[in-house]
Amino acid sequence: MKKTILITGGAGFIGSHLVRLMVNKYPDYRIINLDKLTYAGNLENLKDVENKDNYTFVKADITDAEAMQKLFQEYQFDSVIHLAAESHVDRSISNPMSFIETNIVGTVVLLNAARNTWKGNWEGKRFYQVSTDEVYGTLGETGLFTEETSYDPRSPYSASKASSDHLVRAYYHTYGMPIVISNCSNNYGPYQFPEKLLPLMINNIRHNKTLPVYGDGKYTRDWLWVEDHAKAIDMVFHKGENGETYNIGGNNEWKNIDLVHQLCDVMDELLGREKGASRQLITFVKDRPGHDRRYAIDATKIKNELGWEPEIQAEEGLIRTAKWYLENTDWLENVTSGAYQQYYKEQYAS
Ligand code: NAD
Ligand code: DAU
Repeated sequence: MKKTILITGGAGFIGSHLVRLMVNKYPDYRIINLDKLTYAGNLENLKDVENKDNYTFVKADITDAEAMQKLFQEYQFDSVIHLAAESHVDRSISNPMSFIETNIVGTVVLLNAARNTWKGNWEGKRFYQVSTDEVYGTLGETGLFTEETSYDPRSPYSASKASSDHLVRAYYHTYGMPIVISNCSNNYGPYQFPEKLLPLMINNIRHNKTLPVYGDGKYTRDWLWVEDHAKAIDMVFHKGENGETYNIGGNNEWKNIDLVHQLCDVMDELLGREKGASRQLITFVKDRPGHDRRYAIDATKIKNELGWEPEIQAEEGLIRTAKWYLENTDWLENVTSGAYQQYYKEQYAS
């Protein structure tokens, strides 16, 4: 094996797409997927690669320092691609502490395990932190986040991600650990947990339930097809410069209400419903506290320096996404039974 790579959070949404890409594209890499399997982690996301020779799954918690140290000793990882996190803004508002534990403490535990194992022998080593555009805060009607934009996180989730980014950079400056960070916009596609906007709306449309749009619906996000993100991570991992940050975005801004309208039309078509039927389900509900108005990414650096660009545009990606959820209703039913029902009741109680 040429490399042994630890991917954390590989049973989650983006992580499972990344694991699939790496396992299939690099048969001579050994991929270890470490995941705690929280409500967001699901091994069903990886059925097609679970028996591959170059793939191993380990159930563990990144905040468990002893377990992480043992794992590093056992596998002698060359690199870490770190995605494990608590990732949903609304949950960070109701329960910030788990975000501090996993996103901040968990990241430091991994950095320490890497440092203790690599012992200053940095040749061929890399710690890759997968982060978010939310660390930059919020934009007005114009402007874009660049890699030089100051951090200004405004939710417990984004503050915890910002904090972990700072710590990763601190290990670069203080100890010389070879690190790289990427900050990406909103991902969408198959296997996303239906607490996030698009799969939640798709699931509700299927069940003819109301579609809860926060505030005035004019909040803006930049949407990126998840497989394009996985390809960008592969590129940054292999070609990115140590100590650098790369912004990743879809160049694809939508106001939430416009995106939900578009999704409703796609779903009507796929479900054979009368055009306009699903739009009737839209309900404006109370806003998310501290809701960031607009995110938009300037992805010039990764395009010019590494040659990455998104391949799938939103119109096509939305159809692919809606079709996937309609063809995988068992997956959707599994993840929305049980604890999800209670979460939904509490989150959307008026
Ligand atoms: P997700 O919530 O779908 O998956 C997170 C995974 O981490 C799950 O499999 C979960 O079981 C695992 N996990 C959580 N706590 C853990 C712990 N203590 N120990 C081990 N594993 C644990 O998240 P996602 O949307 O796939 O996001 C992955 C990463 O990408 C996160 O770091 C997130 O901040 C970042 N990101 C996400 C987006 C997006 O749009 N979803 C955009 C930019 C960056
Ligand atoms: O920008 C990258 C970030 O994108 C990632 O770092 C996060 O992990 C990921 O969850 C996502 O954060 P958002 O808060 O932007 O995603 P979410 O799907 O929760 O919401 C998208 C927009 O839709 C946001 O403006 C809030 C709004 N919304 C969301 C939900 C769940 C609604 O109007 N109604 C809803 O029910």
